[in-house]
Amino acid sequence: MALLRSCVVFALISTIIPVMTLAKDFVVGDEKGWTINFNYQAWAQGKDFRVGDKLVFNYPVGAHTVFKVNGTSFQNCIKPPANEALTSGNDEIVLATPGRKWYICGVGKHCESAGQKLFITVQPQSSSPSPAMAPSMVQMQSMPYSSKAIKDTVNYQLFFGVLAALVTLSFAF
Ligand SMILES: *[C@@H]1O[C@H](CO)[C@@H](O)[C@H](O)[C@H]1NC(C)=O
Repeated sequence: MALLRSCVVFALISTIIPVMTLAKDFVVGDEKGWTINFNYQAWAQGKDFRVGDKLVFNYPVGAHTVFKVNGTSFQNCIKPPANEALTSGNDEIVLATPGRKWYICGVGKHCESAGQKLFITVQPQSSSPSPAMAPSMVQMQSMPYSSKAIKDTVNYQLFFGVLAALVTLSFAF
């Protein structure tokens, strides 16, 4: 009986740990979204950005844009060519590599006059994903922007992992 219980606990833990270390979504500015006159440095403060996590920039289409830039362009609000802008109003960026990342708005003087700029530091992934997760995580990291198909794959794996844990639990106790 004790052995069975140990097995169950092991099964639960090995199911739940990958769930807990799963990539996170960060909605930039939370409910304020991507906008002018918001302190994005204060927003980023204390957040643990990891490789595989995702930034989501929400804003009314046309009101703002998102450019990924380097540190110099961030400091001086230098806009890259217009065709490099993200403009969907719901732009998702998967953090593919560790290090410092800079983002600015390309509309008007939003960057220089209204502080619409974000600087974050991305840490390496904290622990390796489970074998089942590995292929989709590798794909996510190698793609600059997320794809819905991959997101759904991850969600299904999550769903079945949790389901398996619940079934195990209901049989054991
Ligand atoms: C930063 O980006 C700008 C514009 O893309 C480029 O001209 C500049 O050389 C870059 N600076 C560094 C330090 O990479």
